[in-house]
Amino acid sequence: MSSELDPNLIVCFNGRNIPLRDAHVGILTHALHYGTGVFEGIRAYWSDAEHQLFLLRPLEHYRRWKQNCGILRIDVPISAEHACDITLELLRRNRFRSSIYVRPLAFKSAERVGVSPDAEDSYAIVALPFGEYLRNDKGLHAGVSSWRRIDDNAIPARAKICGAYVNSALASDDARRSGFDEAILLNESGHVAEGATCNLFMVRDRALITPPVTENILEGITRDCVMTLARREMGLTVIERPIDRSELYVCDELFLTGTAVGIAPVVRVDHRPVRDAAVGPLTATIRQLYFDAALGRLRAYRHWVVPVGSLEQEEEPHAAPLAASHGH
Ligand SMILES: Cc1ncc(COP(=O)(O)O)c(C=O)c1O
Repeated sequence: MSSELDPNLIVCFNGRNIPLRDAHVGILTHALHYGTGVFEGIRAYWSDAEHQLFLLRPLEHYRRWKQNCGILRIDVPISAEHACDITLELLRRNRFRSSIYVRPLAFKSAERVGVSPDAEDSYAIVALPFGEYLRNDKGLHAGVSSWRRIDDNAIPARAKICGAYVNSALASDDARRSGFDEAILLNESGHVAEGATCNLFMVRDRALITPPVTENILEGITRDCVMTLARREMGLTVIERPIDRSELYVCDELFLTGTAVGIAPVVRVDHRPVRDAAVGPLTATIRQLYFDAALGRLRAYRHWVVPVGSLEQEEEPHAAPLAASHGH
């Protein structure tokens, strides 16, 4: 457990709300050895104006989670709607007053050796404080990785499968050690796939271009937000097509998208400036629109956010253990 995390944080583990310090798995857990888990990442942004958190598109995240669990035949015994309710309860019970990252995880939990998974599954939902991912607003220097993005026929690339993140970890570690801020991965066809944990967009001749979902990318929810905002609010043409590596060197603007990263401008790729190495105007506008939507400031996108509210009764913040309100 990270030393920064409060061990009294209330988490949901197999339907029980318990303190983080009591949420354990055994050393022989299948997912720990073979990566047989599926996770999600959901953001809740703190709004100073409304003095509450806003969960961003939680239902879409939980639907993706359940669908992806189906790929690994992991049974999550709660509906996406119920998972949203659990999350709201965790956010209220923990009385967060800052932006939050929610990490749902479902995994093969039988404790035995042998790669073929049993039908024993577990799940957890943890919400933890999570500040801004980007340390500066000046934009990132990304490097094209020598690691290739996993192929759908080896490990399904569209799903957030735990074991698949070895691919992201290798690329990310290499990039950072080589002096880059982020990695960009090519797929086995040599086309641009995405960042280590984020999707990629480039601007060429005022069109917004991103790889299609058949290029071994993760089907990002932030990607969907960006495509929607660009089309509807900015009137941009959005094209899903394969991207060549060298297009990154000649494009007008480049940025990465993801729940953790938000919208991250890339101003240099492989030691080459993107245009004049400054955050591009379309990127800046999309970024502003995205955060306005995430904070519930755009009426037309208010359906993307769920206001978290607060607990009505005055209770101790981490009073433990809580009643099992969502057992299965
Ligand atoms: C490999 C990968 N690609 C893309 C994304 C972006 O997806 P989303 O916008 O749904 O967070 C993520 C983050 O979850 C990711 O891990």
